[in-house]
This record gives sequence, C-alpha cells and structure tokens, in this order.
Amino acid sequence: MGEISTVGIVGSGIMGSGLAEVAARSGFSVIVRSRTKQGADRVLAGVTSNLDRQVAKGKLEAGDRDAILGRITPTDHLRQLAECDLVIESIVEDLATKRELFAELEQIVKADGILATNTSTLPVVEMAMATQRPDRVCGIHFFNPAPMMKLVEVVRPLTASDDTIKTALGFATACGKDAIEVTDRAGFVVNALLFPYLNNAVRMLENGTASREDIDTAMQGGCNFPMGPLALLDLVGLDTSVSILDALYAEFGDPNYAAVPTMRRMVTAGQLGRKSKHGFYSY
Ligand SMILES: NC(=O)c1ccc[n+]([C@@H]2O[C@H](COP(=O)([O-])OP(=O)(O)OC[C@H]3O[C@@H](n4cnc5c(N)ncnc54)[C@H](O)[C@@H]3O)[C@@H](O)[C@H]2O)c1
Repeated sequence: MGEISTVGIVGSGIMGSGLAEVAARSGFSVIVRSRTKQGADRVLAGVTSNLDRQVAKGKLEAGDRDAILGRITPTDHLRQLAECDLVIESIVEDLATKRELFAELEQIVKADGILATNTSTLPVVEMAMATQRPDRVCGIHFFNPAPMMKLVEVVRPLTASDDTIKTALGFATACGKDAIEVTDRAGFVVNALLFPYLNNAVRMLENGTASREDIDTAMQGGCNFPMGPLALLDLVGLDTSVSILDALYAEFGDPNYAAVPTMRRMVTAGQLGRKSKHGFYSY
C-alpha cells in the first residue's frame, strides 16, 4: 500500500470541514483549500470549536486538541496541494465543476498522488477521465457528520488500480472507519437505498398524510432511526439532496428517484436546511 502522510481537502462546506477534522485527528497532515482564505479559515475555526467542546466535556486533552489543530493548514491556493499523497475533493455536487477541478489537480498534484472524490452519486470514472492518471482516481465517500459516522464507501471506477483501492481502504481504516468497497454506480450502496425513502417522505408531506413532526416521529419511534427523514434532509442539505436524486434518476430512470417538486422549490427559495438556517425546520 502507498504511504499516505499529507492529505489535501478541497472544499470548505459541511463535508470539507468534517473531513479535515477526521484526517487531522487520525494523525495526517491536512491542507484544506477553499476558494477564499476566509472559507479556509472558517474550517479551522469550526474544527476548533468542535474540539473545544470535547475538551470542555473532558473527552479530549487540551494538548491533543492543540496537536490536531497544528496539523491543519488552511489555504486558498490549489498549488499548495502539490506534495499531497492523497487529495479528496468535497466541493459542490456538480459533475462539470468536479471534472474541471480534477483537470486542475492533475496539473498540480505530484504524479503518484491519489485524487479522490467525496461525491455522493456522480460517476467517479468521469472524474478519473478528466486526468492523465485514471488509475490513481477513486471515490472515498464519507458520511455526514464525518467525525461521527462510522462508514466510508471506497468507490472503484473501471479505471482504478488495485493499489489505489487498497491505499484508499487503508486510509479510511486509519481514520477509524469501517470501509466497504463498492463499484461505480450512482448512489453506491447507502444513497441508492436511502434516497427513495427520503424522497417519499417529502411526497407524504406534500400529500398531507401527516405533519413534518409526525413523519419524523414515526420513523424514529417505528424504525428506531436516530432521526426522521425530514430532519435528515435538512442535515444533508436540500441542494445536495436534489443533486443526488437527479444523478440517481439520470442513471436508473426509476420514478422513486424523481425529486418531488417541494424539494426543488425549496432549493430555488434558498431553503437549504441547516446550512441556510431554514429547511423543513428552522434553525
Ligand atoms: N451533505 C452531505 O450529507 C454529504 C455527505 C457525503 C458526501 N457529500 C458530498 O460532499 C460534497 C460537498 O458537499 P457538502 O454537503 O459539503 O456541500 P456544501 O454546500 O456544504 O459545500 C460545498 C463546497 O463547495 C464549494 N463550491 C461551490 N461551488 C464551487 C465551485 N464552482 N468551485 C469550487 N468550489 C465550489 C463551496 O464553496 C463549499 O465549500 C458533495 O459532492 C456531496 O455530494 C455530502
């Protein structure tokens, strides 16, 4: 397995921040790149306040917090990722934007560096083929919130080498996660199964079957799920959720994947869930 010591994260949203925290906690040197310096600094500030909370609760030593934070370097320069052994992109769920980024990373990151995507649904092979090293490209799909969720799906596009997949699985395991390997199909395992359920919960709300609170209470109490589907959509982000459904629908043509109109209208209205402080609930 290739040796990973420095990890680049591109994107400073919900998942970029979570990935930076997970990798730094696991002992990797982390460089987080956002398009603006403020965006990158916000990641460090967010991780700092998460770790401060754990120190206050006695779950983390102050010295360990400082060491973790010392391993994170925020930047707005993509070039700073040149020496990374692994770069994981976690920018907006849009294929054209991701392909453009992979073509740029190809020019910048050292030839034996692995380029990975945290995409929830998009074809990883499309990103691999935007580079000159398709054998060194794979998916490393973390779940939200990344520091808490145990699973990582390592996605093998047709083009990936065994060594790339082995290294990605080893990285996920070193991050304390349970890693599974999955082929490059929209939604992989979890989202392909989860999103028809989430979509149908919104359909039920549209139909007036029950209130938002009662739909969520039903699935928590009736299925022992930690949160209901509408609260989960707010956590994932409505914009990301619609992009995920669109990619699933484009691949499989299954009506269960056709995003219900309410969700699309909410995105247009800027009601994106927790990140915009308003979604199915207010925050
Ligand atoms: N939200 C989830 O629950 C979740 C879980 C697993 C994986 N993912 C995946 O992680 C990725 C990021 O999702 P997120 O939830 O962190 O989204 P987010 O909206 O919180 O963050 C998106 C990031 O992309 C950046 N961005 C937007 N447009 C860009 C552009 N044109 N060029 C470069 N950067 C751009 C934004 O500045 C931001 O930093 C997506 O691929 C998503 O599918 C999301």
